This record gives sequence, C-alpha cells and structure tokens, in this order.
Amino acid sequence: MRIIRVKNYDDMSRQGANIVASLITLKPNCVLGLATGSSPEGLYRELVERYQRGDINFCQVKSVNLDEYVGLSADSEQSYRYFMHHHFFKYINMKPENIHIPCGKNEDAEQECRRYDELLQSLGGIDLQLLGLGMNGHIGFNEPDEIFTTGTHKVKLTESTILANRRFFAKEEDVPRFAYTMGIRDIVHARRVVMLVSGETKADIVRQAFFGPVTPHVPASILQFHQNFTLVADEAALSEI
Ligand code: F6R
Repeated sequence: MRIIRVKNYDDMSRQGANIVASLITLKPNCVLGLATGSSPEGLYRELVERYQRGDINFCQVKSVNLDEYVGLSADSEQSYRYFMHHHFFKYINMKPENIHIPCGKNEDAEQECRRYDELLQSLGGIDLQLLGLGMNGHIGFNEPDEIFTTGTHKVKLTESTILANRRFFAKEEDVPRFAYTMGIRDIVHARRVVMLVSGETKADIVRQAFFGPVTPHVPASILQFHQNFTLVADEAALSEI
C-alpha cells in the first residue's frame, strides 16, 4: 500500500489525475474502473482540462463504472450515469460504446448482474480502478458485511449510506434503497487501485480501513492486501493516523 499525502482536495485531484493520465499515455486502450461521488469530481475536472489542452486522448479508452442505483433511469439527475455524463463524458472523446455502467432500470437483478460480470470478463480486466471511501468503509456499494462479496450483485443500502447520499436528493424518501455494484472480487482483481479521500469526516474510517484489521465489516480494508494500491489522501483525512 502506498500513501500519497497531499495538502487538500485540489492537490488530491491533481495527483489522482496525474496517475490516470500517465496510464492513458502509456496504454491508450486501457480499461478504467470509474467511481462517482464528491471525491473524484475534481479529478474528472482535471482530466477534462488535460484533454482540452491536448495532453490526453480518450478515443481508445474503455470504462466500467462501479455502481448504479436500482430504479433510476439514465436521464434521472440522481443516477450515476447522469453524474458521469455531466462531470466527465460529455466533455471528452470517449466512444459511447466504450462506456459501461450497470443499468438501474433493469429489474431483473440476476440478468443485470450476469451481464455486467460477463462484460468485465470480456474487457480482460480493469487496468486502474478509481475509488472513493464510504463513511462506513464501503467501496462501490459493497456495504459492511460478514463476508467479502465476489461479483456484481444487488445490494440493500445501509442507513449510513442513505443518510450520506441524502444530499443529492430532494428528500430522504427519494434516496433509492437498492443498488447494483461490482463486487469486492472484481475490485481487487483490478491491476491497479487508486483511492481518493479528503476531509476530516473520513479520518476515522481511513484509520480503521488501512491501519486496523482486514475485515468485511470494513470492506475497504481488503485493499491492504492489494499489490498495487495507492491511497491519495489529504492531511485532514490522514489526521488520525
Ligand atoms: C460511488 C461509490 C461510493 C463512493 C463513496 C464515497 O460510485 O461507489 O463508494 O465512492 O460513497 O463517496 P463520496 O466521494 O461522495 O464521499
């Protein structure tokens, strides 16, 4: 595990973007595993700027997103597909057929999860998986559990996650209760994992996840065993270690 300690959110975004941009330069047809949420927003902004300056080109890049709410359609403003489009995809030259996100509107969970697992396999694995860290230690929507999950599955969101995501919805009842998420196995199989964490509110869970025991009760802790895991965190997020 490598820790890159940065001053603040903006530095975290720049350092994270450096890592992603260097991969795209070295492997233009790479497979990126992408995340939504506040943590990677700045990184996406940075990548867009570099694309606009002509420093990186996404024409051969493929992407797979970690997760999507069940029940939200692609044009719903709270869906993760919408988030990705508005923060990233609409500004760059990725081919639409190379963009993959679980389909929240597919009510047949078994079929949707199988489709996504087969897709991950057909892409030959993920070169770089980008992650944020949930307040309860979740990665993707893999919530604290008795076991580490394997492939894509439908998950019931915990109260803590519903509360944390409440800020994106008009009222709490609107927050979906279920999501599709890639499993822990899919995440740890990525050849490289980069996690972005910023802010004091994450300091306690950073300590538990990376300086405590490896346990499915804190799903991110499994990354301690990953051979190529980089945590890019700011001083506030590292203040308890
Ligand atoms: C998002 C995702 C989640 C978030 C996590 C942190 O696709 O999979 O695990 O990364 O909830 O969210 P933020 O970055 O909003 O604090």
